[in-house]
Amino acid sequence: MKGSNVAEALAQEMSAKLFPVDRQLLPNLSDVYELELAFYENLILDDAGLLRNGAYFTSVDGKPTRHFLMCTGNPVKLPDHSSSRLKSFFVKNIFRTGYGTHGLFPYRGKFHPQMIKGIINVMGLKPGETVLDPMMGSGTVAVEAALMGINSIGIDASPFCRFMAQTKVDALTMSLTRAKRALGNYEEVFEYFKGRIGKPIAGSKVRSRNVPDGYMAVMESAAEYVTAKDRGQLPKKDRDTSNTYNFLLLAYLDSAGYSERSKRQAPLAQFKAILERYVFVAEKIQAVLKGVESELGKAQILEGDARGLTMDADSVDGIVFSPPYSFAVDYLANDSFHLNFLGVDADELRTRMVGLRGRNLSDKFELYKEDMDKVLSECGRVLRKGRICTIVVGTNSNQLSKVLGVSPEDVPGLQRILVDMANGHRFKLVKEMSRPITGMSNTMRLEYILMLERQ
Ligand SMILES: C[S@@+](CC[C@H](N)C(=O)[O-])C[C@H]1O[C@@H](n2cnc3c(N)ncnc32)[C@H](O)[C@@H]1O
Repeated sequence: MKGSNVAEALAQEMSAKLFPVDRQLLPNLSDVYELELAFYENLILDDAGLLRNGAYFTSVDGKPTRHFLMCTGNPVKLPDHSSSRLKSFFVKNIFRTGYGTHGLFPYRGKFHPQMIKGIINVMGLKPGETVLDPMMGSGTVAVEAALMGINSIGIDASPFCRFMAQTKVDALTMSLTRAKRALGNYEEVFEYFKGRIGKPIAGSKVRSRNVPDGYMAVMESAAEYVTAKDRGQLPKKDRDTSNTYNFLLLAYLDSAGYSERSKRQAPLAQFKAILERYVFVAEKIQAVLKGVESELGKAQILEGDARGLTMDADSVDGIVFSPPYSFAVDYLANDSFHLNFLGVDADELRTRMVGLRGRNLSDKFELYKEDMDKVLSECGRVLRKGRICTIVVGTNSNQLSKVLGVSPEDVPGLQRILVDMANGHRFKLVKEMSRPITGMSNTMRLEYILMLERQ
């Protein structure tokens, strides 16, 4: 056939070569890594697994997948004044992000939830098993695993991340009665948080606030709830109170962040629009999950240090995480607004944050490697033999080239450095995929998905 009949070649369907005809791919896959993950999902999952947990398929044998159902239906309601760019982002990414409770807080460096779902499948994780994210950020893995019926342990050094991740997980199942009532009374709720936390002032992002009792003064319900020995044992009334409080507080902090960054809308109107979106998003996913709540995985959300994990050796069935990209993104500066709001001592926190320790670039790089070596050693200790640890990491060749004194083209790449390091901790690379990062092309061009098997 080669070189002969073009029409005959074009008459063939590529997807029919890769997938059985009764497994229908989602319409808007646009990157090669998405096709790769779909390819492995198809090899690894049976029909029931694909219907329940597949990330890249519309239907199996004419039945819609749960992912398809979660993402379609009414579109996410955005405030009227949202830019057309934001609106088109949600349309374009309908199957990638913005479903479930993933969209509850815009966290910089957040995973694509759909990609995490695909990765969890390709790692061979099954409902009832446990996945760990030792640097969970906004809790994408915890939310996604819960939706997939997989138990998770999520850890982050930042108390704000713990609060945010816990709230997003709880919003999957919490009673929304009081949150909806609060929306009807949004002025009063806004006044309450304004009195309790403070009022957003445009442009005052970096000021440091003096909250006398520390962050627990505003997150006390969250703190009590999260540290209760057995959260399931709390009376339902108390769980509802604490869940509603956290949900409203996250919406307030989210809206306050917007108000301080932009004067486009008055803080009160901003709060109302964001709370409306939160309630809408939570109602939407809860409607899809109706009747299957008991199938959700359990999430344990903790504040901790990935360099010294508290869990036993050989105790988790998979690990997925995205470490800070060396020193490319200062997560504390990004979160300074909320951390300040919550009265967290950012200087103290900085001493425990991977990628932020050190005075200058080369110092930071040395400490980054030292810290990541500890993180990988811990991952090797807690992961069961034969299971997979997936690291998602971007390249930051420009910064590395300055430190190493070579041109950006000759930089080995952070992914190579981490794979070499992982080799020293009982890991072997079994799959590497890459995806382009749009919008940041001068600092990072590619993000790598590194799948390492524990030997
Ligand atoms: C790239 S972000 C993770 C984003 C996450 N994948 C998500 O979907 O939101 C890296 C995270 O590592 C956390 N981190 C930094 N040092 C840490 C440490 N020593 N222990 C645990 N987490 C840490 C940061 O707070 C940040 O949230």
